[in-house]
Amino acid sequence: MNNPQASIFAEMGQHQWYVHLSRGAGTDLGQNDLEQNDLAHIRSVLRQTISDCEAKGINLVVGFGRELLADLGGDMPEDFQKFETISSIDGSGKEAIGTQEELLLWMNSPRLDDIWKTQYDARSALAGHMYVARETITFIYGNSLDMTGFIDGTGNPKPEEEHQVALVPQGEAGEGGSFILAQRWVHDLEGWNQMSLGDQEKAIGRTKADSTRLEHQEDYSHLAHVEETEDGRLDEIMRRSTPYALHDGTVGLYFMAFSRKQEILRNLLDSMYGRDGQPRDKLTDFSNPASGSYYFAPSTPQLQTMLTG
Ligand code: HEM
Repeated sequence: MNNPQASIFAEMGQHQWYVHLSRGAGTDLGQNDLEQNDLAHIRSVLRQTISDCEAKGINLVVGFGRELLADLGGDMPEDFQKFETISSIDGSGKEAIGTQEELLLWMNSPRLDDIWKTQYDARSALAGHMYVARETITFIYGNSLDMTGFIDGTGNPKPEEEHQVALVPQGEAGEGGSFILAQRWVHDLEGWNQMSLGDQEKAIGRTKADSTRLEHQEDYSHLAHVEETEDGRLDEIMRRSTPYALHDGTVGLYFMAFSRKQEILRNLLDSMYGRDGQPRDKLTDFSNPASGSYYFAPSTPQLQTMLTG
């Protein structure tokens, strides 16, 4: 029986906090001492964070990069790669940058204060063992809108299909776990808003008002790059993306997706950046990522074993 981290499938709270950490900064111990000391400490902080989230009703998903997963003794799923920058090949210079970190804590809840305190306690306790490489605070906008004004999530799998789409099947290494893609996309909203409604709809491939799929898809539409294909070249994923707005005026979409195979996520990104020889996804004229990492969220029993090991 698959026993995934339940928060992957839980109804999202209004507020989200993504904290990405890596090992290394702020200690003068020798390398071997550092590693052993780090691992024991990371285990204990994660156990505490899980229990804090349970007590406060915060949805928490814990994802590991390849090396930390291995160092904590987790089952290594097939074909788990780090995120390498993806460059377009049409001379536009557009790219999806890779910033692979080691640990992702994704918290969401109706209460921003609860999330703030819990992630603050976790990162403070990890200081000297792991440093915060990046973080993003996001929110649900209207009826699940992206800041372009389009509904985001219409093409997601039905609830009864989610496990099949998002979880490594039983009998495979890492069963019940899920591959995660986490990217912070930065929008040129001014540029986007200068397009007519009709052009925006052609760029996405759906109507803005109610997300109806356009019968005719342009070869540059987003849907033409990410929809499941009959030959199986592009397959389904489960998305949980939300918008963010930073102090300096930067806005965009925090793209968060789950899959049973990492290759599916890689293929979708290659397709958006025209690496299959097709035109690039029109969205990449108006939005590109400032960060990108792959993680693996082990099943709940695996996570427990890793954290007591
Ligand atoms: C700026 C970044 C992005 C924006 C604003 C965006 C927006 C959208 C919108 C508005 C839709 C149509 C409604 C829906 O089905 O949810 C959609 C569909 C979809 N997007 Fe994106 N998206 C972005 C990035 C990505 C990335 C990076 C991937 C994959 C790696 C992706 C995969 C998908 C998939 C699989 C669908 C569903 C297609 C279907 O109907 O089967 N998107 N996206």
